[in-house]
Amino acid sequence: SVSPITFHNGVRIPQVGLGVWQVPADEVQQTVETALELGYRHIDGAAAYDNEEGVGAALKATGVDRDDIFVTTKLRNGEQGYESALKAFDDSRKRLGLDVIDLYLIHWPSPKRDLYVETWKAFEKLYEEGAVRAVGVANFLPEYLDRIIGEASIKPMVNQFELHPTFQQADVEAASKDAGLAVQAYSPLGRGDDLNAPEVKEIADRIEATPAQVILAWHLAKGRIIIPKSTNPDRMAENLSSADVHLSADDITLIDSLEAGNMVVLDPREVELSQIR
Ligand code: A2P
Repeated sequence: SVSPITFHNGVRIPQVGLGVWQVPADEVQQTVETALELGYRHIDGAAAYDNEEGVGAALKATGVDRDDIFVTTKLRNGEQGYESALKAFDDSRKRLGLDVIDLYLIHWPSPKRDLYVETWKAFEKLYEEGAVRAVGVANFLPEYLDRIIGEASIKPMVNQFELHPTFQQADVEAASKDAGLAVQAYSPLGRGDDLNAPEVKEIADRIEATPAQVILAWHLAKGRIIIPKSTNPDRMAENLSSADVHLSADDITLIDSLEAGNMVVLDPREVELSQIR
């Protein structure tokens, strides 16, 4: 079963969540309701995924208590800045139908526009008001982390970034952990790419698990929070039960060796408004 990870402010998050990036708006309500029925208690969304209303509809329709579900959303890139972040937060909250968001993230640093420090002041206000239980960043490379931590009065609780066997960003993980931030791995399966690695298949056959469970168990063994995306109920269940799969130290080392610089999403230095709104 899924254990929680505790942030530096004491808030707990289930280590496995459902990512809803690229879940179509007309499917997301059903997908989230199914996930909750299967036992998921953590949903990772974003304003830029254009499906917050459907997530909100599922949260309203489900019989699961609101307080038992951990909900993350993220600030759109184009809405960085103090006042615009506060307005965007309120819009997300309305679309989700929630008073309090569990975790709010700056979606991308967008370093060329250089607004993330100002944006963070709005996040601190939301946190101090109790509108969010935790605040964090996503896609922050070590240099951006150093800067925001240097200027912040409230340290981010998490950094969420692309992390999977063929793209591990070990420098980003080390910088995040050393600073006391929890690590959230997005695209933990490399958008499906890493499932075909022969080493992963060999381990899966040997321990009678699936390739996805092997990769996800590797993340969990390293203490990361993971948000695999699936719209298929069988695969959702398979991913959740990775929490019951245990890998030997040798198998963990074997998966560590798959690093190949295989970035499947976007380079945080280069992301512009045209790519991620
Ligand atoms: P689907 O939604 O059809 O299940 P990531 O989270 O790394 O971005 O990976 C998501 C991709 O991997 C999606 O294409 C998803 O497809 C697929 N996927 C998710 N879980 C599994 C699984 N257990 N086995 C095979 N493919 C999976």
